[in-house]
Amino acid sequence: MMNVSDKIRYVGVDDLDIDLFESQYVVPEGISYNSYVILDEKTAVMDTVDARKTDEWINNVKAVLGGKNLDYIVCQHMEPDHAGSMMKALEVFPTAKIVGNAKTFTYMSQFFDVNLDGRKIEVKDGESLSLGNHNLTFVFAPMVHWPEVMVSYESSEKVLFAADGFGKFGAISKYDGDWACEARRYYFNICGKYGVQVQALLKKAASLDIKTIAPLHGPVLKENLGYYIDLYNTWSSYGVESEGVLVAYASIHGNTKRAAEKIASILEKEGAKKVVVSDLSRDDEAEVIEDAFRYGRMIIAAPTYDGGLFPPMESFLSHLKSKNYQKRTVGIIENGTWAPVSGKFMREKLEAMKDIKICDTVVTIKSALKADQEASLVALAKEVLA
Ligand code: FEO
Repeated sequence: MMNVSDKIRYVGVDDLDIDLFESQYVVPEGISYNSYVILDEKTAVMDTVDARKTDEWINNVKAVLGGKNLDYIVCQHMEPDHAGSMMKALEVFPTAKIVGNAKTFTYMSQFFDVNLDGRKIEVKDGESLSLGNHNLTFVFAPMVHWPEVMVSYESSEKVLFAADGFGKFGAISKYDGDWACEARRYYFNICGKYGVQVQALLKKAASLDIKTIAPLHGPVLKENLGYYIDLYNTWSSYGVESEGVLVAYASIHGNTKRAAEKIASILEKEGAKKVVVSDLSRDDEAEVIEDAFRYGRMIIAAPTYDGGLFPPMESFLSHLKSKNYQKRTVGIIENGTWAPVSGKFMREKLEAMKDIKICDTVVTIKSALKADQEASLVALAKEVLA
């Protein structure tokens, strides 16, 4: 099902046992490490897989090669979820040479103690490798997601091997056709910081005639490519994908939560198209980050803690900053029993980001929301929607 064609075969693997991808992201539907064999006069495999799945991958590659030698192992990305089986591949396929760029081989020598004499082909940006009828052109895509990343365009079948680009969380065997949800969570958490570099890659890709996108995670994309490319364009330019407001709160005993829920209902009454409420202590933070980028407006609510900011909110805002959160309107609700200062710390964090419009109205709760504070919540809701 995942084959690109008769000659470009899927040999990747699903990982349904992994607890956390990159030791930080929950992946309830697992993840796939994609890899593709190109069959021609010369044979090539596009990337290896995580060392967790080496044996399964080797079996897949051997089955597709059907006794043919492997000539090339293209390494588009050195991160261990893709290059983790590289050394085993060199051993099992003694005729194969690794195709990479100068940085690929620098990182390879950092990860592995290996002498690649006679086993490597170093390419430059824009160089090509002919396999017979198939021809691969390597296009460097630095910082999508690491500095050595390159994508590969196969011109005879018009396939873009897109490295981490257009990847998603979720094993292939679990794919139900809903691409955007887990692709968005993947994009903003893995590549969100690198919008400028993703834009640069999209510009390069725009000059290519692409019929299929073959990423390193998630399904091969063969139809309606404009849909995926348009989303990538919105995401990487930090544009607003959907009209709506995210209310992200962190609450110690439930009082800040009640204020967050109250403003959510006010936002709905005031005409917000969509309101999403998230608990930073309990919901998947990566998903809240995804929503922060998805919508153009956000209200954050958190209590004061140890004279500073309650840690779940601190973590959320630090992550947003590191993912280059920008071009958004944000409102603040602070709470504190004796000296509420969480608003000050939230503001400082927002001010360190680019192009964030902070609402003038700040709602200060002293322990618990009081009936006479509803007007200030309405004022904040109106301002964030303005
Ligand atoms: Fe899928 Fe950046 O590795």
